[in-house]
Amino acid sequence: MTDLPPEHSGIRYTEGELERGEEHADHTVQGDSSSHELPQFKVEGHAASVLDPNAKPILEVRDLRMYFPVKSSGLIRRTIGNVQAVDGISFQVPKGGSLGLVGESGCGKSTTGRMVTRLYEPTGGSINFDGTEIAKTSARRLKPLRREIQMIFQDPYTSLNPRHTVGTIVGTPLAIHNVVPKKQILPRVQELLEIVGLNPEHYNRYPHEFSGGQRQRIGIARALTLQPKLLVADEPVSALDVSIQAQVINLLQDLQKEFDISFLFVAHDLAVVRHFCPEVAVMYLGKIVEIADRETLYNRPNHPYTQALLSAVPDVKQAAIGGRRERIRLQGDVPSPINPPSGCRFRTRCPLAQEICARVEPPLLQVGKRHKVACHFAGELGNHPDRPVTASLLGVDDTGAPDAGASPAANLTNEPGFADTWFDLERKTMASA
Ligand SMILES: Nc1ncnc2c1ncn2[C@@H]1O[C@H](COP(=O)(O)OP(=O)(O)OP(=O)(O)O)[C@@H](O)[C@H]1O
Ligand code: SF4
Ligand SMILES: [Mg+2]
Repeated sequence: MTDLPPEHSGIRYTEGELERGEEHADHTVQGDSSSHELPQFKVEGHAASVLDPNAKPILEVRDLRMYFPVKSSGLIRRTIGNVQAVDGISFQVPKGGSLGLVGESGCGKSTTGRMVTRLYEPTGGSINFDGTEIAKTSARRLKPLRREIQMIFQDPYTSLNPRHTVGTIVGTPLAIHNVVPKKQILPRVQELLEIVGLNPEHYNRYPHEFSGGQRQRIGIARALTLQPKLLVADEPVSALDVSIQAQVINLLQDLQKEFDISFLFVAHDLAVVRHFCPEVAVMYLGKIVEIADRETLYNRPNHPYTQALLSAVPDVKQAAIGGRRERIRLQGDVPSPINPPSGCRFRTRCPLAQEICARVEPPLLQVGKRHKVACHFAGELGNHPDRPVTASLLGVDDTGAPDAGASPAANLTNEPGFADTWFDLERKTMASA
């Protein structure tokens, strides 16, 4: 593997850091962690990915939905149900920033990424990219926008055509989009290979002649070809050896700074997301259950699912479980997205679930300056309220039955981003900065 040039410096993972994260992060949120008493992760140098609260969003997703039809067998294949892979999510990615999207396998992360890049046409909702609505835009009108949103795929082995040379793989987008004259394609390909830390003379080699990490660098070079404004990185390092993961993450951070690229960073590894993304959204069964700035999400998660996820990650375990060392073990499997539970989708595995959870879906309520959570009993671990914090806002009683005397709050919307006012969970009133 060619080393990165010295100017590609900045925040650095050490390989050991990622190694520990990989070894212990467990996206099934099950298993024993009694021996996981590891030192805190440390980041060398300065944090590269810092939240800029004033940055304008480059991507704004509102109430996005993707339902895949389930067909009956037989000659006449009728639609008999839907896989509700993504069901009404809203979020923003700031210009030059990165939003992490985490959650267990099957929660809808890749589907979200594929809708944003318009590999899938959403069933509903809107995707506003840099001022343009793209959720339902036709393929012809999408073509110029495709240059600006690119994707890095999870598996560097299957995402590169084995019959094409690296030069063809990286150079094809340049030719399709007429970005540079034909004669300049090769020099541009070589320049890109150098940028991602590969030998520019290897442009005529085939993917199988490269290691996994090198192939992922080829995938990154291809994604960079058209100078995108937004990169959707779908688990870009999870198929790689832990030692190589560190190099690729560092490369992505360097590229983000150098080319001012915004990232939607999909991962199940909370340790990786923590370093890369100043804001993180946690998904469960097609919904966002909590979204917050990094410090809040990792140190003071309010949703029982986020608390369980974090208790399985060694570097943040202490903060997430309030000094106790046990991992929070969730019972049972993730339910089917074809027939998700009523009310709160997490209720079948939630240790705090009560009657209201089955009756009423909890809204994604803003509870801090940059913190939203979807739970009737939202609160820090060990400090969850006894009565639902959402009841009066929703106009229901503590069991979730309609309360004739209550006046529901008008501002429980599913808007992306954060408002200037929020619901203070401790004081049970609205607060502002
Ligand atoms: N093309 C499809 N047709 C039908 N169902 C699909 C399709 N793509 C995804 N799904 C279903 O949608 C749900 C979400 O899948 P998705 O791939 O988005 O999950 P994910 O969070 O990326 O999981 P992983 O961490 O395993 O990659 C899953 O239940 C999956 O089976
Ligand atoms: S709403 Fe109820 S079931 Fe859902 S996470 Fe909160 S306590 Fe658990
Ligand atoms: Mg996926």
